[in-house]
This record gives sequence, structure tokens and C-alpha cells, in this order.
Amino acid sequence: MAYQLLNGKRGIIFGALDENSIAWKAAQKVHEAGGKFVLSNAPVALRMGKINELAEACGSEVISADATSIDDLTNLISKSTELLGGKLDFILHSIGMSPNVRKGRDYGDLNYDWYLKTLDISALSFHKVMQTAEKLDALNEWSSIVGLSYIAAQKTFPDYSDMAQAKSVLESIARSYGYRLGKSKKVRVNTISQSPTKTTAGTGVGGFDVFFDYADKMSPLGNASAEDCANYIVTLFSDLCRMVTMQNLMHDGGFSSTGITDEIVEIMRKKEEIVG
Ligand SMILES: NC(=O)c1ccc[n+]([C@@H]2O[C@H](COP(=O)([O-])OP(=O)(O)OC[C@H]3O[C@@H](n4cnc5c(N)ncnc54)[C@H](O)[C@@H]3O)[C@@H](O)[C@H]2O)c1
Repeated sequence: MAYQLLNGKRGIIFGALDENSIAWKAAQKVHEAGGKFVLSNAPVALRMGKINELAEACGSEVISADATSIDDLTNLISKSTELLGGKLDFILHSIGMSPNVRKGRDYGDLNYDWYLKTLDISALSFHKVMQTAEKLDALNEWSSIVGLSYIAAQKTFPDYSDMAQAKSVLESIARSYGYRLGKSKKVRVNTISQSPTKTTAGTGVGGFDVFFDYADKMSPLGNASAEDCANYIVTLFSDLCRMVTMQNLMHDGGFSSTGITDEIVEIMRKKEEIVG
């Protein structure tokens, strides 16, 4: 159901790769809620061509930008304010990639050039987006900026590898830049820590199916879907969350506050019966 919470608001949505992407669902929900936006992704992702279907459905333009490139971001943000007819009210940073994870490197054998790439793409790009927007004076007062995180920033999930450090940095940037933009422009900056979700980035992590099922059984509400996350993003972009900033917001069906669940006890009991 659409509540038109974003009527009259303009923004940029990064990271819609295909219909499974969190950013794809977010774009659909923001569109339903009345928001207008430019879609952006890395040149290599745009070559897949899928994003144009989404753009058509949402009446959006697509502008290519490697989120690690200040030149690309400057071009994207200045063109977006022109196209949308004013400064921005929201930005979704839904970007993540680790060459070490993608190429299956062991945590004790990381390639450090790739490690730096992981940090640049998945964390520093969040800073670069905000710094570029600030320098271009492209943000309206009370605008809302959201990045996507994962609980591996706080607790170890071995296969998440160097992405865990990237998410810790991402969450820290949300606090530091949230302070700065809060003071100067009443802009709020938050990260959403999302449940495991079946997307290209998610399923690229080793053992994804197992920890997807484990998280589902460890969450009283079950895993939050990409669509649930998109709805949450709409509320954070809306004026209903004006005083929420510098937070890492758990959107995980209760996973982060749960020690053990009946389902996990049951599985362990059955295992013991088989072994015994
Ligand atoms: N899927 C999960 O289980 C899960 C859980 C928690 C958080 N997240 C986070 O959600 C966000 C979105 O991921 P997703 O799960 O929708 O997967 P996805 O693969 O659909 O999206 C990741 C996006 O990052 C983009 N990207 C990669 N390098 C880029 C660059 N240099 N410049 C610009 N864009 C670039 C990709 O093209 C892609 O669109 C990521 O930050 C991810 O870490 C995902």
C-alpha cells in the first residue's frame, strides 16, 4: 500500500542491479510513495541493461557512476539536481562488493589491493557521495541519507571476510557525517543493518544458504525481505523520521537481540538424538 509519504521529494538511488536488489525494490516503493529520483550504478552494471526496465517503470533517468570516482559522483549529483529540478531530499547508498569474497580468498590469505578495493567500494564511497553532495550544496534541509549494512560489523561471520571491516567503517561514517550534516543542514544519515537477503551480493558470500536459514530460525519474525527493507527505507526518507540520525538501525526480524530460539534448540536436540 502506498501512502504518498514522499510526494514532492527528489533523490538518487544507487545499486539497483536486478529485480532481487534491495535498491530495485526500494526504487519501486519510493516511486509508489510519490518520490522522484535518478537511478545510478557502476558502468559495468549498467551494461547488463536491466536497470532501464526499472527506470522506465519509475519514470527515472539512469546516470552511470562508479561510486569510488569523485568525477563520476560530481557529474551524477550535478546532473541529477538539474534533471529533477532542485536539490536532493534523499540518497540511498545500496552498494557493496569485495573482490576477496568474490574470488573466494581465505581470510588468512587476503589480497591487500583487493582489500582496499572492498573498503573503497563498500565504505569510503558512502563518504565520497556525501562529501561530493555537500561540496555541490546539493542537499535540502531535512534530507535523509541511508546506507545498507550487515551485522557482521558487530559480530563475526567468518565467510563475510573483509566486508565485515567495510561495514564497520560504513556505520562509523554514518555517525561522523551524520554529525556534520546534522549540524550544518539538519540532514540525517543512518545505516540499516539488514537480514541476509537473496541478491547477487548476498548469495556471493560463501555458505549463504546456511546462514540465511540459520538467521531465519534465529529471528522471532523470520528474516526481513528486500521488500520489507524497501518499505523501511521509505519511512526513513519520509518526514515521519525527522529526528532519527547517526544510527545503525537493525532491520532483522529480531535476530540481533536473540540468544537462541526454540527452532535451534529443536535442531540441536535432534542432532544429539541421532549421535546418541
Ligand atoms: N543481500 C544481503 O544479504 C545483504 C544483507 C545486509 C546488507 N546488504 C547490503 O545491501 C546493499 C545492496 O546489496 P544487495 O544485497 O541488494 O545486492 P546487489 O548485488 O543487488 O547490489 C549491490 C550493488 O552494488 C553495486 N556496485 C558494486 N560496485 C560498485 C561501484 N564501484 N560503484 C557503484 N555501484 C557499485 C552493484 O552494481 C550492485 O548494484 C550492499 O551494501 C550490501 O552489502 C546486503
